[in-house]
Amino acid sequence: MRIAATADLHYSVQRAALQDQLAPVRNEADILVVAGDLTNFGQPAEMELLLNVLVRLRIPIVAVLGNHDYESSKHEDLMRMMTTEGIKVLDGTGYERDGVGFAGTKGFVGGFGRGVLTAFGEPEIKTFVKASIDEAMKLERAMAQLRTEKRVVVLHYSPIAATVQGEAPEIFPYLGTSRLAEVVDRHGADLILHGHAHHGTATGKTVGGIPVHNVAITLLQSQQPSAAYKIFDV
Ligand SMILES: [Fe+2]
Ligand SMILES: [Fe+2]
Repeated sequence: MRIAATADLHYSVQRAALQDQLAPVRNEADILVVAGDLTNFGQPAEMELLLNVLVRLRIPIVAVLGNHDYESSKHEDLMRMMTTEGIKVLDGTGYERDGVGFAGTKGFVGGFGRGVLTAFGEPEIKTFVKASIDEAMKLERAMAQLRTEKRVVVLHYSPIAATVQGEAPEIFPYLGTSRLAEVVDRHGADLILHGHAHHGTATGKTVGGIPVHNVAITLLQSQQPSAAYKIFDV
C-alpha cells in the first residue's frame, strides 16, 4: 500500500495553493494520512474550507486531530464534519484497509526519556500528566484492536525526541512524549507518522527500532517547496 502523509495544514483561505499541491495524490497513493492540525483555530468554517479541498481528492483519508483543532472547543463538531465526508478520524481507534491497520490518537505533551514528567506533587501536575497517560492508553486500545500484520501509527504529537530536533530545546517537552513510543514498541508497528514539530527533523526511530516520520507540511516544504505530502510504501 502506498501511503501519502501530511500534517499541520493549518488550513485557511491563504492556503489556497494547497489544493493544487494535493491534487496529484490520487495517482501517487492509495490512501492519505493527515496527522493533525488540519485547521488553525479549530473553527468549523476552516474545516469546511479544507473539506472542500479534501473531498475533491477522491482518495480514502485517515486523520487524527491536533492541538490547533481543539482551540475553539469545537473538536467534536470538526470530527463529525469529517466523518460525514467519509474521513476516518482516529481517536484512540483503529481502522483496517486492504490488509493494513491504522491506529491513531492525537497524543499529548510530557517529554521524552528520562525527562518524562511524572504524576507527583500538586493535583495540577497530576491532572496534566493524566492527560498524557490517557492518550497513551487510547493508543494502546487502538493498537489492540488491529488484527493486521502491517500496522501504521498516526499521531499528532511526537513519540520520540529525534524528530523534534531543530525546534528550540526548551520546548521539546511540549512537542510530544515517549510514553506514546513505549506503547508502539510493545505492540509493534511498521511505521509511525506524526506532525506538530513544524521545524523538527524528518526521520527517527523508537528505542525498539520502529521508524518515525515527522510529516509536518512546513518540514516537507523546507526540503521541496511544492511538496504537500510524503509517500511511504507499507
Ligand atoms: Fe501545527
Ligand atoms: Fe500542533
